[in-house]
Amino acid sequence: MGILRNKKGLIFGALDERSLAWHVAKRCQEEGAQLVLSNVESAIKLGDIRRLAEENDMPLLACDVTNTTDISQLLAKAQELLGGKIDFVLHAVAQSVNLRRHLSYENLNYEYFKRTIDISAISLHKILKTAMETDAIAEGGSVVTLSFIASERYMHGYNDMADAKALLESIVRQMGAVYGEKRGVRINAVSQSPTQTKAGGVWKEMDHFYEYTEDLSPLGNASADDCADVCVALFSDLMKKVTMQTIYNDGGYGRTMLTESVIERFRESTGKK
Ligand SMILES: NC(=O)c1ccc[n+]([C@@H]2O[C@H](COP(=O)([O-])OP(=O)(O)OC[C@H]3O[C@@H](n4cnc5c(N)ncnc54)[C@H](O)[C@@H]3O)[C@@H](O)[C@H]2O)c1
Repeated sequence: MGILRNKKGLIFGALDERSLAWHVAKRCQEEGAQLVLSNVESAIKLGDIRRLAEENDMPLLACDVTNTTDISQLLAKAQELLGGKIDFVLHAVAQSVNLRRHLSYENLNYEYFKRTIDISAISLHKILKTAMETDAIAEGGSVVTLSFIASERYMHGYNDMADAKALLESIVRQMGAVYGEKRGVRINAVSQSPTQTKAGGVWKEMDHFYEYTEDLSPLGNASADDCADVCVALFSDLMKKVTMQTIYNDGGYGRTMLTESVIERFRESTGKK
C-alpha cells in the first residue's frame, strides 16, 4: 500500500538521523517504495547510514557524486538490486570547506570553491547525464534535489554555498527541459527551511537564523519530516506534470517581510510598545 508502491528509488545523502535524506528514505519506504541508499565512502564509515540500511533492509552502495565512473557503476548496480529502472532519485548532497572553515566570501579559497560547486551542484548534472546515457531512470521518473533560498537572496555567512544553490536550481531547469523531452523525467528542487543537520550546522549563523525564520514564517519552519512529505508527493504520480520548479517548503518565509512574532521580538528587545 502507499502512494509509492511498486516504485524503485535511489536516495543520495543520508548521513545520520538528522539528515533530510534519512527522513525522506523512511517516508518513501512507508509509502511502499523499494530503495537503494548511497553516500560517499567516508560518510558510510563515519556516519550512521549503515544502521539505516540494515534496520530497514535498504541496500547501501558507495559513490562519490563528483566521480562519473562511480555514478555509472552505482546506477547499474542499483538497477540490478531493484530489479528494474529507477523511478525516483533524491539528490541531498552538499559540502563547502569554505563554509566549514568560516572563510569570508571575499576571501574564499578557490580550490575549495571549485569543490563546493562540484559536490553541491555539478554532481546533479553528472548523475542526470549518466542516467540519461544509460537510460537508468524510467519514463516519467522523478528527480528531486534540495536547495535553499540563499540561491536568490543574499544571506550573511552562507558563502559559496549560495553560488552552488543558484547553479543547482539552474541545472534543475535546464536538465528538466532536456530530460523531460527525452524521457518524460521530471526534475525539481525543494527549497527547504533551515533544518538542524550536520550540513546545516556547518553554517556559523544557523542557530540564530533558525529562530529568525521560525518567527518570520507564517507557518513556522518546515521540519525534516515536512521535507520528506513534499519529496514523497513529488516522487508520486500525483505530481506528474510538475517539473523544472523550485518548490518552497519554508512555511511562507520566502514571501514574507514582517510577522507579528518579529514585531513582538522587537517590542521585547527595545522596550517600546
Ligand atoms: N539543513 C538545512 O538547513 C538545509 C536547508 C536547505 C537545503 N539543504 C540541503 O539539503 C541537502 C542535504 O543536507 P542535510 O542538511 O540533510 O545535511 P547532511 O550533512 O545530513 O547531508 C549532506 C550529505 O552530503 C553528502 N556528501 C558530501 N560530499 C559527498 C560526495 N562527494 N559524494 C556523495 N555524497 C556526499 C554527505 O555525506 C551527507 O550525507 C543539502 O543539499 C543541503 O544543502 C539543507
